[in-house]
Amino acid sequence: RMMKRQMECPRDIERLNGPFLAIYQSLIPLEEEKAKQKQLLTLLENIVSKEWPEAQLYLYGSCANSFGVSKSDIDVCLAIDDADINKSEFLLKLADILQSDNLQNVQALTRARVPIVKLMDPTTGISCDICINNVLAVVNTKLLRDYAEIDVRLRQLAFIVKHWAKSRGVNETYQGTLSSYAYVLMCIHFLQIRRPAILPSLQEMGCTYSVIIDDVKCSYFDQVEKLRGFGSRNKETIAQLVWAFFNYWAYRHDYASDVISVRTGSIISKREKDWTRRIGNDRHLICIEDPFEVSHDLGRVVDKHSIRVLREEFERAASIMQYDPNPCVTLFEPY
Ligand code: GTP
Ligand code: MG
Repeated sequence: RMMKRQMECPRDIERLNGPFLAIYQSLIPLEEEKAKQKQLLTLLENIVSKEWPEAQLYLYGSCANSFGVSKSDIDVCLAIDDADINKSEFLLKLADILQSDNLQNVQALTRARVPIVKLMDPTTGISCDICINNVLAVVNTKLLRDYAEIDVRLRQLAFIVKHWAKSRGVNETYQGTLSSYAYVLMCIHFLQIRRPAILPSLQEMGCTYSVIIDDVKCSYFDQVEKLRGFGSRNKETIAQLVWAFFNYWAYRHDYASDVISVRTGSIISKREKDWTRRIGNDRHLICIEDPFEVSHDLGRVVDKHSIRVLREEFERAASIMQYDPNPCVTLFEPY
């Protein structure tokens, strides 16, 4: 990369608004699907409360953060206040109980990074992962959902980006590419740094919501109904934003020194986080700060090989947005 390419948004980009909005609409889950997810949650609550009356179930991830496309699995967190709980034993017992309640394909994955029980509900046809006491994920789910309330362009952009990432095979953390959670954070951050800004940094505003989870203080301004219209001085459309997002990640982001931070709503330096060299498995080749666990880089899964794959995909997407006659098809072509 001898020279950074600076490209200008094509003049006729607006012709892509209709097609991009149609893709967004087609990905939104139907109400009946949401109802089925609720039905499964209620079933699980009934089963769990018989054995552990004090346990609480929470939805998290894409079924609750408003960035879920239709036909996704649901993620459930079982919260139980028991200091000396052995997660593996607990999950094995939970799996036993669920199995005898006629749920199907029940499996306890006790050795996974986040240990879970997987199951499929034959009545609704929905699959589900249950984890234990992963309350930070429930809180970051709320943060994402609150951001989505502020400006509809976030949800539009994130649906398009997630759909692109899945189509192109760069949403596979076990292959060194990024999680859906990381892509949504990239979209939030991108809209925070537009000028005029389309999104604020909720964590930089007076806090109206505050919880402490695993010694991490999570606080931010959550009265987002008061922020509708925040981004209205910025008139950019979804077509311009998709173009600019890929242009940013292809040509403008400084991979050598920058960290994107939704917490501050700005770019911070690798140096100030001490993320300049490889420590253990954390290579910090693309740096995305978790909004609450600030020592956590969501780019940690990316390695020497997969960073090339990712950057080539960003460049491919940027050049399609620039030159292709039919980006709404080409962008999502399977790899
Ligand atoms: P899809 O299932 O691909 O539609 O997306 P998803 O939103 O469910 O995303 P993903 O499977 O990547 O993650 C599910 C949830 O787990 C996220 O919404 C986060 O709440 C949480 N999560 C995932 N990865 C991390 C992580 O590295 N750190 C933290 N703190 N939470 C994470
Ligand atoms: Mg998920």
